[in-house]
Amino acid sequence: MHTEELETTARALVAPGKGLLAADESFGTIGRRFSAVGIESTEETRRAYRDMLFTTPGIGEFLSGVILFDETIRQSSSDGTPFVEVLKRQGVIPGIKVDEGAKDMALFPDEKITEGLDGLRERLAEYRQMDARFTKWRAVITIGEGIPTDTCIGSNAEALARFAALSQEAGMVPIVEPEVLIDGDHTIEQCFDATDRTLRSLFNTLVRHRVHLKGLLLKTNMVIAGKECPRQSSVQEVADATVECLLRAVPAIVPGIVFLSGGQNDIQATEHLNAMNSTYKDLPWELGFSYARALQDLPMKLWAGRAENVAEAQKAFYHRAKMNSAARSGSYSAELEKAA
Ligand code: 13P
Repeated sequence: MHTEELETTARALVAPGKGLLAADESFGTIGRRFSAVGIESTEETRRAYRDMLFTTPGIGEFLSGVILFDETIRQSSSDGTPFVEVLKRQGVIPGIKVDEGAKDMALFPDEKITEGLDGLRERLAEYRQMDARFTKWRAVITIGEGIPTDTCIGSNAEALARFAALSQEAGMVPIVEPEVLIDGDHTIEQCFDATDRTLRSLFNTLVRHRVHLKGLLLKTNMVIAGKECPRQSSVQEVADATVECLLRAVPAIVPGIVFLSGGQNDIQATEHLNAMNSTYKDLPWELGFSYARALQDLPMKLWAGRAENVAEAQKAFYHRAKMNSAARSGSYSAELEKAA
């Protein structure tokens, strides 16, 4: 195994003040997000949109890495420079999402299992050749009546561990992402319990599969009440519950934990991360971000598919990345937010 290289890359991805942009939306997901703001989804609009994000001047100050989608890693900037090269010139590490999506789990109503292990070794070799240095696999866990089941949690943990082992074999840092969904009316306590069960199962399974824990990152949800729950939690409650859950379930040797935004709005996602990093100064791992929606919502709306809006959209993207960078050290504030 390329142990040292994996550890160095993993640490670089959670370097102080930096985080990840998830720009790995599948065709279906980007189509839904574009359509919500009136943009048609074509190969060219998807390319132009990602071009706008990746060429934002100075973005490497706040971003350590970008997670790409298969179509995107093969695309280039308007001047012909491959996106991978554009990112490297910005000082940003290119990564790739390699799962093939969460599908309905047979005989387990309302639960999902992520596919994509068949042929993965060969796909990983190709991505490594294209200069990807890290990979991502997302599992989806749903809270509801009698779910998540141990079978769903365990099956997704097995898939995540097999993915992580293959990725390390190929010399790329795996980001293992079990996402407990925010959808539903569950309480913060139910989210705590589901996240705790999921993470314990995942780390037990990773160890059984001989995955090198210093050479991976965990991407996970915050512990938060469901969107439809009548009792929403304060920022501090989310921060405290999330850190408590992670301390119980995530080994100290893991170099970093990065959060998904998962349907929180952009300001909330920044505030929650900031509260964790300002309250807890001696955590064993770095606590960072790997947001898609919370970094992209406003820039996508401002861009709206028009070349004349690129500068304004880039300004908004730069600002959001800067705010989350401040949250990495707990130095974000409402004043900083306004001082754009
Ligand atoms: P969100 O930040 O929009 O939840 O997306 C992160 C991600 O990569 C989900 O897989």
